[in-house]
Amino acid sequence: MRISVIGCGYLGAVHAASMAELGHEVVGIDVDEPKIASLREARAPFYEPGFEELLQRTLATGRLRFSTDMSDASGAQVHFVCVGTPQKRGENAADLRYVEAATESLLQVLQAGELVAGKSTVPVGTAARLAEMVGEKVPGAILAWNPEFLREGFAVQDTLHPDRLVYGLPASGAAEVAERMLDEVYAPIVERGTPKVTADYATAEMVKTAANSFLATKISFINAMAELCEATGADVKLLADAIGYDDRIGRKFLNAGLGFGGGCLPKDIRAFMARAGELGADQALTFLREVDNINMRRRIRMVELTREVCDGSLLGKRVAVLGAAFKPDSDDIRDSPALNVAAQLQLQGAVVRVTDPAAIENSRRQWPQLDYADTAEEAADRADVVLVLTEWKQYLDLDPRAFGEVVAQKRVLDGRNALSRTAWTEAGWTYRALGRRAG
Ligand code: UDX
Repeated sequence: MRISVIGCGYLGAVHAASMAELGHEVVGIDVDEPKIASLREARAPFYEPGFEELLQRTLATGRLRFSTDMSDASGAQVHFVCVGTPQKRGENAADLRYVEAATESLLQVLQAGELVAGKSTVPVGTAARLAEMVGEKVPGAILAWNPEFLREGFAVQDTLHPDRLVYGLPASGAAEVAERMLDEVYAPIVERGTPKVTADYATAEMVKTAANSFLATKISFINAMAELCEATGADVKLLADAIGYDDRIGRKFLNAGLGFGGGCLPKDIRAFMARAGELGADQALTFLREVDNINMRRRIRMVELTREVCDGSLLGKRVAVLGAAFKPDSDDIRDSPALNVAAQLQLQGAVVRVTDPAAIENSRRQWPQLDYADTAEEAADRADVVLVLTEWKQYLDLDPRAFGEVVAQKRVLDGRNALSRTAWTEAGWTYRALGRRAG
């Protein structure tokens, strides 16, 4: 099929290359010239394992192109809208200006019989509104909502092997046509029996925000338990293991620690609350405010714990922060808990050195006042305390004995409950973690 992908961020760039991998002829469009230039040269504009290889492979087939000109979307049978929906400045609601601008501009080239498939995470009700716009300007064109569930760090795998497909279809007779077209786009995925849910627009939009809210709630639940463990001397990691054996609960997303960040979960739960308020159903989601609060408290607790192990004062203390990205295998620092803690410590008088295998460049742009180092050893040189705030494999693999040679004080704070407490304590370190007794 001929496909256009509007918006080439994490979602769009990976989607465009993945659609070319499935055999389609794809054009990826974005207004950001440097991003398009980089994609054209098969250079990934962000860190995502496996993406650059996929890009090289699909560009070489000649089936994938990138452009800054919307007229290049002309003639595509399916147009995927993949632009960002960030949080509005000073408000909880989602900023829909990019979705609206992309759709407006797409309407200039859209033809009857073509399908617009929205993938961006939007407040419920958006698809119906956009469908009206499309119907008015281009009678005979169809709009569907087809949310995406990819995780950063696994974006390629999640796009080519999703665990489910969700189609939000129009109420009219166009639903069948839209479903057929999406089935053709995803043919190999559909044929291997991937579960598919066809629904109305509102349900499809809500699937995404409900899924992210559930995940955020699960993380904040275990972090609330961590607060209790801290008060009682219980161990949150053992607690998570034990409750996780119950199939109905499951162990995934029960890792207590510094909590969630990134470009999706925090802003999506806030936008969901804001939308519920507009719909007069705010009570239904007031628990998400608590989920957000629990999450934010973990960052404050981490700063307090650092002060505690530094004998009650952060002034002039040398703090090494290992990890700046909001999660491992990513260079994304949007709402990163690690950077948030690093900045708070610095503001409170500590001398903070941050390192990360992929996110230093992005971090330096956002927090130029922090000091950065290329390696964990360099960051920890003569440190009074080491904080592991993003669980990159290279930090979990550190040899605590050798690493102990570079620091001034062998104190480690495990912000993700991911290090081996035994290995570190046996090497003479004071080990502290959120929700667990001092080791
Ligand atoms: C998330 C959703 O998982 C994905 O389905 C959606 O499409 C986009 O948002 P992503 O933001 O890439 O994906 O990251 P995810 O793996 O969900 O992690 C989010 C945050 O939660 C990270 O900061 C991570 O460190 C934290 N987390 C995750 C925990 O604190 N504990 C856990 O047990 C799991």
